[in-house]
Amino acid sequence: MSLESAFSSPEQKRRHVRRLFATIADRYDLITRLLSYGQDRRWKARLVREANVTADDVVLDLASGTGDIALMMASRGARRVIGLDITHHMLELARGKGGDVTYVTGDMGALPVADASVDVITTGYGLRNVPDLDTAIGEMARVLRPDGRVVSLDFNNPDHPFVRRAYLGYLTAVGGLLGRALHGDPDTYRYIPASIRRYPGAAIVAARMRAHGFTDVRVVPLLFGLMSLHVARR
Ligand SMILES: C[S@@+](CC[C@H](N)C(=O)[O-])C[C@H]1O[C@@H](n2cnc3c(N)ncnc32)[C@H](O)[C@@H]1O
Repeated sequence: MSLESAFSSPEQKRRHVRRLFATIADRYDLITRLLSYGQDRRWKARLVREANVTADDVVLDLASGTGDIALMMASRGARRVIGLDITHHMLELARGKGGDVTYVTGDMGALPVADASVDVITTGYGLRNVPDLDTAIGEMARVLRPDGRVVSLDFNNPDHPFVRRAYLGYLTAVGGLLGRALHGDPDTYRYIPASIRRYPGAAIVAARMRAHGFTDVRVVPLLFGLMSLHVARR
């Protein structure tokens, strides 16, 4: 499937993303460290601090992948941590890391979770990957209890045209090299800049969260605003 057709409809994007993460799962942790120059751990640690989890909290980590954030939340002493991801093999790798986390295969667009049953939602690189942003934010709002918190980490889509061009050009070049070297397909990691190009950016995501009833919505810029955290309350 070409990168262009991957974004031609929500269903195509869901299929592309599932296939992509099933393909790269075994190398996901390595690639994430390489592409972020080791910064990914620091950003996730900041996310966990912002989530401010307590021993009473039920935490739902969406797009949990190989479990980094879910495991960090469990080690902070949350009452229960559930990690949800659409790609079964990512969760198999997460389970292999041990830790007190329940992993569930599922879709952020239709959470298999009761209304108002979760205290904290976390997600790392989740919202940019969903086929429909509003559906996913609406599902977060549904399952969070009143006053529950959400913290989301993702790339930003920089406003400044020059910065955006340089940043996406860099990711396309490096992604192409890594994809060819590791998978024989330069498009594998070019999905990242392609998805950023179509992502509305941190300010609009914050506005969509407010539209779904979230309050105290803050955007925390990371890496000079190339990455961002969204922190909000239900
Ligand atoms: C870039 S990885 C992030 C993994 C992990 N959160 C981290 O920060 O390292 C994105 C994850 O989102 C998952 N994903 C993509 N679309 C999804 C959806 N609609 N519902 C649930 N998970 C999804 C993918 O399977 C993949 O594991």
